[in-house]
Amino acid sequence: MSGRNGKRNLDIFKREETDMSVQDEVIYQIYPKSFYDTSGQGTGTLKGITKKLDYLQSLGITTLWLSPIFPSPMKDNGYDISDYRSVDPRFGTLNDLDTLIEKAHDKGMKIMLDLVFNHTSDQHPWFQKALQDPQSPYHDYYIFQPGPEEPNNLRSVFGGSTWQKVEGRGEYYFHAFSAAQPDLNWANPKVRDEMAQIVEFWKSHGIEAFRIDAINFIKKPEKWKSITPDGPDGRGKCTRVVRNAPGMEIYLQELADRCFEQGKIITVGETAGLPYEALPKFIGDNGIFNMVFDFKAADLDIVSGDEWFSRINWTTPDLKERIEQSQMAMQQAGWAANFLENHDQPRVTTKYLREHQDNLQAKKMLAMLQMMLRGTPFLFQGQELGMVNFERTSPDQFDDLSSIDQYHRAQEAGFSDQQALHFANLRSRDNGRVPFPWDDSPNVGFTTGTPWLEINHEAKARNLNAKAALDNPESLFYFYKKLIALRKENETLKNGSIRFIKNTSPDLIVYVRESEEKPNKESKNQNERFYVICSFSDQPQNLELPAENKIRKIFGNRPSALRQESNTISLEPFECLLLQENA
Ligand code: GLC
Repeated sequence: MSGRNGKRNLDIFKREETDMSVQDEVIYQIYPKSFYDTSGQGTGTLKGITKKLDYLQSLGITTLWLSPIFPSPMKDNGYDISDYRSVDPRFGTLNDLDTLIEKAHDKGMKIMLDLVFNHTSDQHPWFQKALQDPQSPYHDYYIFQPGPEEPNNLRSVFGGSTWQKVEGRGEYYFHAFSAAQPDLNWANPKVRDEMAQIVEFWKSHGIEAFRIDAINFIKKPEKWKSITPDGPDGRGKCTRVVRNAPGMEIYLQELADRCFEQGKIITVGETAGLPYEALPKFIGDNGIFNMVFDFKAADLDIVSGDEWFSRINWTTPDLKERIEQSQMAMQQAGWAANFLENHDQPRVTTKYLREHQDNLQAKKMLAMLQMMLRGTPFLFQGQELGMVNFERTSPDQFDDLSSIDQYHRAQEAGFSDQQALHFANLRSRDNGRVPFPWDDSPNVGFTTGTPWLEINHEAKARNLNAKAALDNPESLFYFYKKLIALRKENETLKNGSIRFIKNTSPDLIVYVRESEEKPNKESKNQNERFYVICSFSDQPQNLELPAENKIRKIFGNRPSALRQESNTISLEPFECLLLQENA
């Protein structure tokens, strides 16, 4: 496949000029460092992903989102990029990526790259040049402010000041995340131009999908004033100033106009905290992206994403309310990106299920809750195995820099060491980042070397691994597979509208998916209607269904037939049901 001079012949990666529909997608997020290692070095590789394509295809996945695979000092595990146009040697080569793209295409799957455009690594040549020479054009690629005092009191997302002093010079640079992640200056048209060229570069390699990281941080204020402190450190969260700042959509619209060909490219923006009123600018017919991630339901257990110790005693009605609000807002504006887990979140089984409730039926119920919602489903590696969190006994065991920061922040806020560790364990980003368990061997089949991050011993003790899942027809894996297949086969489950049923018993979440056509007098029953019923209760429950016609069971997590008396359905603990109302 390599042409002369070792250069790849890029023509073979030319994308077909057919329109794709985001509604058809089922996206699986791979954390490349922890997926499958073919090198024996203890770190996942791109060749490893290529080797496991059959596994992903058999689940029904259409697009693979790879967390960043670009050269990086890995201070934030790849979310600190030092070269946007290459592959980190830990993961392999650009050739390996091209092969993965090609093999994925052969199997009808696309690759989604993760573009970290709010900031670079401090090792990126642009930043190095900016540091060396304040007169260099690269100085204006970043956000520098004169000293001698810190320009203001903002706290970075990963703790401490957002301002880092430049050694030997009287100036500071701004970083919303860690000091190793200096923010780019999007007000500079040259920066915007660089970003557009990077998107084009990857499109020419056959990439058809992009996730755009922390993209709602790109608009910075004209003046850097201090804000009212919100913590004992005298600082205020930088998210109050630099997240979702009005005007960011102007830069993003420009990028979209230049690069995001509607119908040819799939885009999803990470936009935590984006107000629902702003959605029409971001999704839908005139939106910048196809989809954006909303964290309302994912962050239900904490007051804010940057304070893990501010925990909330949530209830099922709270969860229902958040899912409903999010779905309704997305439906009004466009299309949703539905996820339960990602590389920044703990395992959903530990988060949404109480300790004694963590059983296979309950996990299947969560799967149905997510997969039947209106929007593109995103699965995170291991979610299909029902992975659980893993308790670490000392803060030294964390790799994730935010877990360590949160541990100290909880201590500063007055919690004991033990409580601080408990909060960090509940929310640590390492929970999702552990080596993927392929089997029950000592290194869970992930590597023949020493894994870069400790394996999840709790999951191992419970025999949660791909081999066990594939060997068991009743496993969660096959349940997801069936849900994915149902969604693909049925237009209403894919594209139909959604509404939620109110006044059920508090532990039930019930929603309706309907075809868009409204019935008229003559063809009264022509619209198709499904009910999705999820019980979060460990006790039997009853549900009065407002159905007008006969209903039948399509799928569920219990083998038994529907238990129904007139319109009342009885549910077993954690039962989930997909019902169809007869047309
Ligand atoms: C996003 C990523 C997260 C990363 C941060 C900074 O939120 O999902 O993993 O640490 O941005 O890039």
